[in-house]
Amino acid sequence: MKNLGILLSGRGSNFEAIADNIAAGKLDAKIAVVISNRADAPGLESARRRGLNALVIPSKGRPREDHDHEVVAALRAHQVDLICLAGYMRLLSPWFVQQFPNRILNIHPSLLPAFPGLEAQKQAFDYGVKVSGCTVHFVDADLDHGAIILQKTVPVLDTDDDHTLAVRILEQEHIAYSEAIRIVLEGKYSIEGRRVRLA
Ligand code: GRF
Repeated sequence: MKNLGILLSGRGSNFEAIADNIAAGKLDAKIAVVISNRADAPGLESARRRGLNALVIPSKGRPREDHDHEVVAALRAHQVDLICLAGYMRLLSPWFVQQFPNRILNIHPSLLPAFPGLEAQKQAFDYGVKVSGCTVHFVDADLDHGAIILQKTVPVLDTDDDHTLAVRILEQEHIAYSEAIRIVLEGKYSIEGRRVRLA
């Protein structure tokens, strides 16, 4: 059984979707620890309700490397095999990324490389794209940048606003993240440059 470490900063719906899939037997993994850099993250409370190890490692006002060292130590202490960023609003230091080569995943609510950064759904909506979606990718030291594991598309409807679009993208995120975790945990892929080939 592989151990997941979840890093989050807020709502935690992607974390909950992963936890639900594990509980339903659809994903063979264990959530060893949930770590938030914010004490008030609703996702933390949800983790506690589920009886999971839930830690706060505050980041505010601290040098990135100091904070990252503490997070990495906690992930190691819980023998984490794969780290899932799930609404974790911190850029990882290059040092952090080097500690877990190709063992850190992120989900982003756009079809990367379009619309990296904050409010990706609104960026896409305001740009006027007809299709958006979500991306699960390996994490490197650049924001929303590493090799792409999978993407799911979501059409932008004439009746949409940025909120309704975000809701439909989120539904796909909740499916996509567990799919990508399964692929990585089962080792059914190879990486060639930026290309992730599924076996
Ligand atoms: C999601 O849209 C995710 O793609 C982005 O941050 C949001 C987190 O939402 N990285 P939640 O906390 O998982 O509900």
